[in-house]
Amino acid sequence: MTKYDVLIVGSGAAGMSLALQLPRALRVAVLSKSQLGAGSTFWAQGGMAAVLHDRDSVQAHVDDTLKAGAGLCHRPAVEFTVERSRQIVDWLVSQGMHFDLREDQQDDEFREFHLTMEGGHSHRRVIHAADQTGRALSEVLASRVAESGNIELLTDRCLVDVVRSGPGICGAYLLNDDGTAVETVKASAVVLATGGASKAYRYTTNPDGASGDGIAVAWRAGCRIANMEFNQFHPTCLFHPESRSFLVTEALRGEGATLHLQDGDRFMERFDERLELAPRDIVARAIDHEMKRLGAESVYLDISHRPKEFVKRHFPQAYQRCLTLGIDITTSPIPVVPAAHYTCGGVVVDQYGATDVPGLYVVGESACTGLHGANRMASNSLLECFVYAQSAARHIASGIQESSAEPAPWDDSRVRDSDEAVIIQHNWQELRRLMWDYVGIERTTRRLEHAADRITLLEREVAEYYGRFQITKPLLEMRNLARVAHLMVQCAAGRRESRGLHFNSDFPHQSAQTQDSILVPPNFDANTSLRGATDELPSYNS
Ligand code: FAD
Ligand code: SIN
Repeated sequence: MTKYDVLIVGSGAAGMSLALQLPRALRVAVLSKSQLGAGSTFWAQGGMAAVLHDRDSVQAHVDDTLKAGAGLCHRPAVEFTVERSRQIVDWLVSQGMHFDLREDQQDDEFREFHLTMEGGHSHRRVIHAADQTGRALSEVLASRVAESGNIELLTDRCLVDVVRSGPGICGAYLLNDDGTAVETVKASAVVLATGGASKAYRYTTNPDGASGDGIAVAWRAGCRIANMEFNQFHPTCLFHPESRSFLVTEALRGEGATLHLQDGDRFMERFDERLELAPRDIVARAIDHEMKRLGAESVYLDISHRPKEFVKRHFPQAYQRCLTLGIDITTSPIPVVPAAHYTCGGVVVDQYGATDVPGLYVVGESACTGLHGANRMASNSLLECFVYAQSAARHIASGIQESSAEPAPWDDSRVRDSDEAVIIQHNWQELRRLMWDYVGIERTTRRLEHAADRITLLEREVAEYYGRFQITKPLLEMRNLARVAHLMVQCAAGRRESRGLHFNSDFPHQSAQTQDSILVPPNFDANTSLRGATDELPSYNS
């Protein structure tokens, strides 16, 4: 049996940066269920929020985050994250990351970072590499991991489940690269850095693997899950029949792009005084409202009033991608629609990414740290990945102990080869369609009840299939996505108010009380959990 000190599931910003900050003496594996850059990190565009400008301050960034989070952020988590932003930028630069510098400063030695603007921010504070920040970050981190000597990078390995022995973790089951066998590995600590779950929705900006695997795995292992009703819809996904999931970065609006209806009406004026730079929940809901009101297929984002060279230099990816589809963004508006983008909830963790199960950590988009509350402010996600990866690495390094327990080998003696893969494919499509229709930007109690009934049936079918047939990656993803969709609906149904990203037209007002939605799994163990009690998340900002 292969043994690791630390098994990290996920090769995005959270997983790779955590691996790089563990002591070199530890044997570490980083898994990716497909190719290295297949997670959301690679596709991140706008950049990472950080307090870098003289006129900006930690306090201003904290206040903006709290405001965008609609009263549900945990102030200690916000402060913890924002206070570390400058130091994270320094660490990334030390790893070889090049962020864009200001073009109006001539002296190379003293040029400052170019900071862009995004919704909800009161200052320019988004550091970036043109509109391909995620790609640049992924490439730098992957090079450092490759040089490390102690980190094994295992691509095309899919986590099935973690294995518990008594209260803690002792290993994991992994579907191997050609999908033919399940390997049992032993690990003293397991980190889930598996990204979000926006694939639960029919239209999304996320890559294919965003099926919420880590959240479902952690739930099955006995971890509490929180705030899953707050799935963020990005306001501006390109609307084009040949390109369903291309994000048009919010930084475009930060640099002056405006939103219009087909007749030219700049409709954001009717919704928020911050216009196009209001937080995402407000802009996405406004677009959804206008599209439904008019029966329109999309709205339009226009940057054509900025100089052509400026647009091409700052947004080379958006420019090229649209051009290949016949849209020159320097002269024409871009048709855009909202699409599922980010999972604000996730596995309940503390400041070190530790979960309710000893030895199991969750970092990045799969975690619920308390930073985002009811709506994530733009570009706070990458920052959260790096901050919590660093604190988790330190926590793991200071307390790691080899588990004496051996995980039981995987047993597939009672299953046979699947002969009806079409069932999984059908369920996958049905689930994503019903989530879009019933658990989307605007919800009602009846729609949520209908979604819950249907998802219960789908989950039952998938569980039956899982018990009878050899597992495959699509089956694992479907099983996880169905569980996560169920958790989303449960959280949404339990929230009898509208707040941030959750809007239920039967309860359109925000309640005076702030409360997280916390779901407790049947095998939750209060004696070993984070703080021994189900209701003790870090204190609220209320
Ligand atoms: P990811 O980068 O998603 O990586 C997940 C990893 O887990 C992958 O390696 C995947 O293969 C692996 N994995 C998943 N399940 C399994 C399994 N069962 N077994 C093995 N491996 C598994 N945020 C910002 O702050 N700024 C931005 O500009 C920005 N732009 C964005 C643009 C787009 C198009 C998208 C989709 C998101 C954007 N975000 C942005 C959000 C941000 O990119 C993500 O929240 C963040 O990158 C998540 O990082 P992560 O490390 O948690 O997960
Ligand atoms: C974008 O570039 O618009 C995405 C930024 C984010 O999701 O934080």
